[in-house]
Amino acid sequence: MGLSTGAAEGQSHSVHLVHLRLRDFRNYPRLEVEFLPGFHLLLGGNAQGKTNLLEAIYLIATLRSFRGVGSAQMVRQEAKGYFVGATIVGATTSEVKLYWSASERRLSRNGTPVKRLADYWGTLRAVVFCTEDLALIKGTARIRRRFLDLLLAQTSPGYLETLLRYTQALRSRNALLKQPRMDEDQLAGFSQQLVEAGQELMRERRALAPRIAPKVQVAFHRIAEQRDELHWEYDPQVDGDFHVVLAASRARERALRTTVVGPHRDDIQLLINGRSAAHYSSEGQKRTLALALKMAQAEHLTEVHGAPPLLLIDDVMGELDANRRAGFLPLLDRARGAGGQVFMTCTEENWPRDLTSDLTRWKVQEGQIRRINPDG
Ligand SMILES: Nc1ncnc2c1ncn2[C@@H]1O[C@H](COP(=O)(O)OP(=O)(O)O)[C@@H](O)[C@H]1O
Ligand SMILES: [Mg+2]
Repeated sequence: MGLSTGAAEGQSHSVHLVHLRLRDFRNYPRLEVEFLPGFHLLLGGNAQGKTNLLEAIYLIATLRSFRGVGSAQMVRQEAKGYFVGATIVGATTSEVKLYWSASERRLSRNGTPVKRLADYWGTLRAVVFCTEDLALIKGTARIRRRFLDLLLAQTSPGYLETLLRYTQALRSRNALLKQPRMDEDQLAGFSQQLVEAGQELMRERRALAPRIAPKVQVAFHRIAEQRDELHWEYDPQVDGDFHVVLAASRARERALRTTVVGPHRDDIQLLINGRSAAHYSSEGQKRTLALALKMAQAEHLTEVHGAPPLLLIDDVMGELDANRRAGFLPLLDRARGAGGQVFMTCTEENWPRDLTSDLTRWKVQEGQIRRINPDG
């Protein structure tokens, strides 16, 4: 099994969000808007709802917030639940409806409730660029694992399902390890499931490295001033046979009452000139590297699926100096050239006027959005 989805590879059906409907989502009581393919610039002052809009689009794509918060926080204050509806046009048309409240969750596509996440996955693929990306470099291994998992879920059929199986086995196993008297047969059963799914995860993560690493390096050089050498290394916690390593951890896991080895402890090492980017690089290098990781994600999705993902760019352009901007812009142009869709937020003060002329401008204000005509 390769890393690509057989069905989509080679075909180039760019996918667009053509219609978005929000109800009680963040500061949007109600919103209904149509988008064409191409480049959308969302302008507005602070705290008007620009990021919230990108968050809603990302939610349709991944069913989670890129701000790392749960659904309760996305429900508009004083409301009971949020609704996000979208029409997505690619090779086929998908009508997605997502409702969430504390007591009820509903997700449907084309009128049919979604039963398995893996069936829904791939309806819309998005890459977000945001200030939180810096945590990919500075943050914990969990954040890098999430990046790895998202990328693999977006490109490898079956990965998400394996990940869910692994997580389930891990949860059951940890619950068992916490019991005062545990059933050894049950433990052996969960261990078997854990090892099978875990080995598959590690195999996929290892196979991704040679495909993604060169893209990160290229992206990094496009935006970095110096020709630093960049290295991406998959750093599995388990070295060797998972089955053997798990068995050898027996005493430790019983003392700690939790599974102490496995791909849920994996990491990615990011090295600049042979030294840990987290510990030895400058703030500027960290930002550049974080941006390069996301650019590589977008390039990889384009390569695998033959069409660019939706690009959601939040407050990033304003922070880039002219050099890095010049390295970043071609990505947007390529996405647009391939018929993709780009959503970018800026405050009115810092939007780069050298961007491009061929864009749709929107004004975001107090949970409303309206199109601004080109000359006003
Ligand atoms: N759950 C919520 N209910 C109502 N308003 C919210 C909620 N979450 C955030 N907001 C409001 O949304 C606004 C921030 O929106 P945001 O999209 O982050 O702004 P920006 O335009 O600066 O990106 C703030 O006014 C904040 O109070
Ligand atoms: Mg914002």
